[in-house]
Amino acid sequence: MKSAALRQAFLNFFEREGHTQVPSGSLVPQNDTSVLFTVAGMAPFKDVFLGREQRPYTRATTAQRCVRAGGKHNDLDNVGYTARHHTFFEMMGNFSFGDYFKRDAIKFAWRFLTEELGLAKERLWVTVHVSDDEAERIWIDEMGIDPARFSRLDEDNFWQMGDVGPCGPSSEIFFDHGPDVAGGPPGSPDEDGDRYIEIWNLVFMQYDRDSEGTLHPLPKPSIDTGMGLERMAAVMQGVHSNYEIDLFQSLLQAAARATGQSDINQPSLRVIADHIRSCSFLIADGVLPSNEGRGYVLRRIIRRAVRHGHKLGQENTFFHTLVSALDEEMGEAHPVLRAARDQVEQVLLKEEEQFARTLDHGMKLLDDALASLEGDTLDGATIFKLYDTYGFPFDLTADVARERGVTLDELGFQRELQAQRDRARAASQFNGDYSADVELEGETDFTGYERTDEEQARIAGLINADGATCEHLEHGQSAVVVLERTPFYAESGGQVGDTGTLTLGDSLFHVTDTRRQGAHNLHYGYLESGRLSLGDTVSAQVDSTRREDIQRNHSATHLLHEALRQVLGEHVQQKGSLVNDERLRFDFSHFEAVTPEQLARVEAIVNEQVLANTPVQTELMTLDEARNKGARALFEARYGEDVRVLTMGTQAFSIELCGGIHVRHTGDIGTFHIASESGVASGVRRIEALTGRGALRFYREQGATLERMAATLKARPDQLEARLDAMLGHQRELEKVLESLKARLASSAGNDLLSQARDINGVSVIAYQVDGVSGKDLRTLLDQLKSRLENGVIVLGTAEGDKVSLIAGVTKSLTGRVKAGELVNHVAEQVGGRGGGRPDMAQAGGQDPAALPGALESVYDWVASRLE
Ligand code: ALA
Repeated sequence: MKSAALRQAFLNFFEREGHTQVPSGSLVPQNDTSVLFTVAGMAPFKDVFLGREQRPYTRATTAQRCVRAGGKHNDLDNVGYTARHHTFFEMMGNFSFGDYFKRDAIKFAWRFLTEELGLAKERLWVTVHVSDDEAERIWIDEMGIDPARFSRLDEDNFWQMGDVGPCGPSSEIFFDHGPDVAGGPPGSPDEDGDRYIEIWNLVFMQYDRDSEGTLHPLPKPSIDTGMGLERMAAVMQGVHSNYEIDLFQSLLQAAARATGQSDINQPSLRVIADHIRSCSFLIADGVLPSNEGRGYVLRRIIRRAVRHGHKLGQENTFFHTLVSALDEEMGEAHPVLRAARDQVEQVLLKEEEQFARTLDHGMKLLDDALASLEGDTLDGATIFKLYDTYGFPFDLTADVARERGVTLDELGFQRELQAQRDRARAASQFNGDYSADVELEGETDFTGYERTDEEQARIAGLINADGATCEHLEHGQSAVVVLERTPFYAESGGQVGDTGTLTLGDSLFHVTDTRRQGAHNLHYGYLESGRLSLGDTVSAQVDSTRREDIQRNHSATHLLHEALRQVLGEHVQQKGSLVNDERLRFDFSHFEAVTPEQLARVEAIVNEQVLANTPVQTELMTLDEARNKGARALFEARYGEDVRVLTMGTQAFSIELCGGIHVRHTGDIGTFHIASESGVASGVRRIEALTGRGALRFYREQGATLERMAATLKARPDQLEARLDAMLGHQRELEKVLESLKARLASSAGNDLLSQARDINGVSVIAYQVDGVSGKDLRTLLDQLKSRLENGVIVLGTAEGDKVSLIAGVTKSLTGRVKAGELVNHVAEQVGGRGGGRPDMAQAGGQDPAALPGALESVYDWVASRLE
């Protein structure tokens, strides 16, 4: 039974039992910060178990893609070393949300295994939690499990996804691969062997664990199960290792081809075949390689794969070529991969190319360090250097070290890392957030969508610069003011906070920033004059000119987003944005630089929308309604919560979920100008743009610059181009003349030098200090001299400041006896340096110019001794 057929058989079986087939969720958990990646089939249903979210069904079945790398569930280090660990795998699951419980969960699993798949009962082993009499009764009395193939375990039979959240006792089903394979039954001392493999975990979800560790009962007992597709496929295909199943065999073949191997049974190929799955699916789900969080885990996995390719002797990029083989195996069951295939390839290629630049050097450093190691622990400084200079993630270094039986000084590495962070922190500006610990009551009523002033706003809270609540503010004090009702927008979704004033009689509070904390908008600023007290009613005025500039930039960001998708393609996804009064910044996924032509088209599309001057519409609706309307969402809002949907442009050009503040008509944007395009991370581009007054200011400044340049060149602005071309042409001619003059000078210098040559046993030897000549020219001079000598040895030195440069050359006829590398080193050592190179040409540096004449003089004796 092929893996694909097994996946389908599972889903069909549970569908027949009243379960809704739900597509796999993303590998990036939505609205959940307790785990880095989706680590189990239940992750997308976490809030359903907790009763926070309602779904139209109470039974579901899925083939969920999972990644266990980084974080609490981490199998990365074991991949390649065992027969069953993966960074990526598929978990088949059936779920009950307050519908059936233990008895049916057990029955379903048993029937699927023994009837549907026809597994022999004698090959199965079952475990339950030590406390679970009920599950034991069901298994032994109702299912007829042999008590000799049954055990009660403690921790192994209690499952939870993260440190907090839904959890409960579980019952696991194991498959016995037979006495030929080493290992003992669950609970025995040698249970870690490969003989008894857990194939299915049935979790009886009953609790919600809080951050203190206390268990609270769930609203309704539920069921979460997980059957590893790859392990089960191994059982069905009669093999003992997951890597022997059909799906992995094709990936291993592809990996062998890509790295030029004939034997597919190499651990490194298994690592590569495993890693291409996690990397491709992570990228398809929107993760991009970076230096932190999920992006860094992805980068670590890619680099580990590339290193294993390198180990197999593959020096070129290869990893990205495996995406097509993966797509063939899994693209049908996971359309998200098929859709993103090209982008996945591009991102991987780019990351491979980037790492290739440092991999070789890093490996050399690591090889040397390992070769000269005393003891069996690699020191923290070396690990840090590999990390910092060569981009070697810690676990990559650990992986190499493990192959040679060496462990890493992780603490030492962490110390180096911390020292670097401290240096960085000291260098960055202190930004005190003095409200962080204050608890506030109620919530702020925000009226800023409709207006920019609020005549009657009561002060509901005051926080002084020490971070403590207070009753009064005196003039001169910095503080945070909280109002019951405010038109001030708090920084969110990339849009900066509003500024403005709060006034009452002679009292004037300048608001320099507004930020959100919990349910409150906090007005940061200082009291310029007068006094303010809790309960006072102030007049709140947003700086409306600034606000209008911000709104223009924000609305233009939406138009830009859509225009980019039209010009570059549907893969464009927002990766970040910043909208302030001066400009807008938009980061998005795209794997190469946007060409000037594409930028011009994007700009033109946005400006057409501006000129069309259509009204901007804002509506509140449910998330489902928003989705049906085709709204783009950066985040998955919760079920039941209303979302704000913003529609703008002709024929609903752009529809996005957004909580920010926008212009009323697109024409209010005035004009749109792209100021720059650049790369910010692998696969992420950034556009900065101007609108309205900012764009006008920019045009005016550019015009003025042109005028000034024209004046300098005594031309009109429209003549500037022709004038510049002429000047550049003239300059090129001058450069040519200069080159030929330099060459003539050098050759006459050469003549001078040749006349200085001393004859030693028929060999012309020149050792000379030529100050004022450096680098490239020194080399040219040497080559000229060499070409004019039949048998010659030349050493040239120059001194600049306290630096000495040396170059040595030996004509081919003599390199058997005199080596330029040794010679230059002989001289360099006398001027406090070292060097080396080829037998016919070598370079070196030094730092003692005073010693240079003597060192050069020593050349003659040295050469004489070699020629004897
Ligand atoms: N959530 C359970 C597991 O991952 C089924 O094992």
